[in-house]
Amino acid sequence: MQIKLPEHIKQLKSYQPGKPIKELIAENNWEQTAILWNNENPMGSSSKAKESVIAAFDGSNFYPDPQSLVLRTKIAEKLGRTYEEVVVGNGSEGLLLNIIKAFCDGDDELLTSSGSFVIIYIWAKINNTPLIQVPLTSDYRFDLDSIANKITSKTKVIYLANANNPTGAQITKKELASFMKRVPASVLVVLDEAYFEFSMDLDPNFPDGVALNYPNAIVLRTFSKAYGIAATRIGYGIAPAPIISPLLNVKLTFEPGNLAQAAGIGALDDHEFLDKTLQNNNTGIQYFYSQFEEMGLNYIPSFANFVMIDFGTADRVNALFEKLKSEGVFVRPLGGSGLPHCLRVSVGRPDENQYFIKKLKEIL
Ligand SMILES: Cc1ncc(COP(=O)(O)O)c(C=O)c1O
Repeated sequence: MQIKLPEHIKQLKSYQPGKPIKELIAENNWEQTAILWNNENPMGSSSKAKESVIAAFDGSNFYPDPQSLVLRTKIAEKLGRTYEEVVVGNGSEGLLLNIIKAFCDGDDELLTSSGSFVIIYIWAKINNTPLIQVPLTSDYRFDLDSIANKITSKTKVIYLANANNPTGAQITKKELASFMKRVPASVLVVLDEAYFEFSMDLDPNFPDGVALNYPNAIVLRTFSKAYGIAATRIGYGIAPAPIISPLLNVKLTFEPGNLAQAAGIGALDDHEFLDKTLQNNNTGIQYFYSQFEEMGLNYIPSFANFVMIDFGTADRVNALFEKLKSEGVFVRPLGGSGLPHCLRVSVGRPDENQYFIKKLKEIL
């Protein structure tokens, strides 16, 4: 190609999802499958979200409300905030990109841990923002002391995922409080709480970033996980209005679309679906723990809808991944997250969890 690409864009690789699951299922004669690789909701989608989307389709000839006022107001009311303190986006990953676009310029650095949500590293690269990474601790937790030690005058945004994906580990209230004391007011902390509903259900003492209300933090949450509408792409952020307002300026004019807005509006009322989801997750996590203990596996206690297991070597993980896949069990090897000796399994329906355990036992 004659047209020269910027160096940082040349280094990007597009997401390689592999063959679509539907195709793989059609090609194979599996007695059963277990789709446990993307931390999706195994209970389906909120039916209230569906009704709301169907109703919103009429009117799709008009552009949607660019301010998403109904959804922002509804989220704000639920969380005891004003709509000016809420932003909605094309999933929380869309908001992450908008945060970097809005706040990082020139030498401004993004500081985070390695072994976290892979998208943050990609968004930093797309925006040509220098990325500083601190290793996880030996027990796979965010090393907040080391992160705080790395703050310099160039640090603009700090990204923390709580609970962290792919490890499932939690940053406790106490750890977060002492960390935030060390962060200057000129640095924006992103508290990514994509798994918040699961975290709170698994540990009532889990830090609630919205309630903690730090003046220099934005809390990100999503409808993709607990409400089962990952494909509609709708997430939200909560922060003081001066942090929200630049995010409204950098977003696409009509982001998110009307169906995504409607899905979020409907989902928020679906307490029944949420309860069912949380109950399934809690039972699934406990089942995994008891089985992993019986098998003597080294798993990391999780505050989300997945569990990470340390298998010691990348070869062991890759062999397990391939063998499980050949049996219709889809889990996530974590080489892409810099943890090639670890494997992540999402909580599925009971039949999927049991099938995974059965096949894992046979293979091991
Ligand atoms: C920590 C974390 N943040 C954000 C997301 C993205 O969520 P969304 O679907 O809202 O973009 C994920 C998805 O897996 C995640 O694990």
